[in-house]
Amino acid sequence: SDDIRGDLAKVLLPEQRIRERIAELCREIEAADAAASDGTPLLLVGVLKGAVMVMADLARELRVPVQMDWMAVSSYGSSTRSSGVVRILKDLDTELAGRRVLIVEDILDSGLTLSWLVENLRSRGPASVEVCTLLRKPEAVKIRVDVQYCGFDIPNEFVIGYGLDYAERYRNLRDVAVLAPHVYE
Ligand code: PRP
Ligand code: MN
Ligand code: MG
Repeated sequence: SDDIRGDLAKVLLPEQRIRERIAELCREIEAADAAASDGTPLLLVGVLKGAVMVMADLARELRVPVQMDWMAVSSYGSSTRSSGVVRILKDLDTELAGRRVLIVEDILDSGLTLSWLVENLRSRGPASVEVCTLLRKPEAVKIRVDVQYCGFDIPNEFVIGYGLDYAERYRNLRDVAVLAPHVYE
């Protein structure tokens, strides 16, 4: 059946808690934006597909001018384990020279995706590249990544919802939840 509630071990972050934390992050981003502003809007770079929800909510909560662009870089495919390979599936439409860039991600897991992406965007000559991730798994970080804005440090469990998938499912859940092991075992 399609009763997805049976696929969840527990709700880790309910919708309301995510919303409140994103608002807090936006106040920090606005303060930094006011200090650094050079007349060009902050460029938000969302990483498809997992970041769609956090990008949509963050962008609408921010009270400063922003532009939104998207990249698709996938390192997981349909597996729960990282393959170690980063692929560009869709590149930016925006020139980064001189721009202030904020990468928006759903989760920092091993760090492979973000470390690769930060270096890739830095090589394009932006004024700055910073990172905002809703979730971070400290126990799973294999590669160091500087994160300026982090929503929640979470345990090393397989999480889904609010953009995060398992085999392309569960992205539309409004909460972040832990996937029940019976789904992937
Ligand atoms: C997931 C997630 C992050 C990345 C984090 O994306 O959305 O982008 O993995 O893992 P890492 O820190 O180990 O690199 P995924 O590759 O599954 O693509 P998706 O966003 O389309 O689900
Ligand atoms: Mn992703
Ligand atoms: Mg994924």
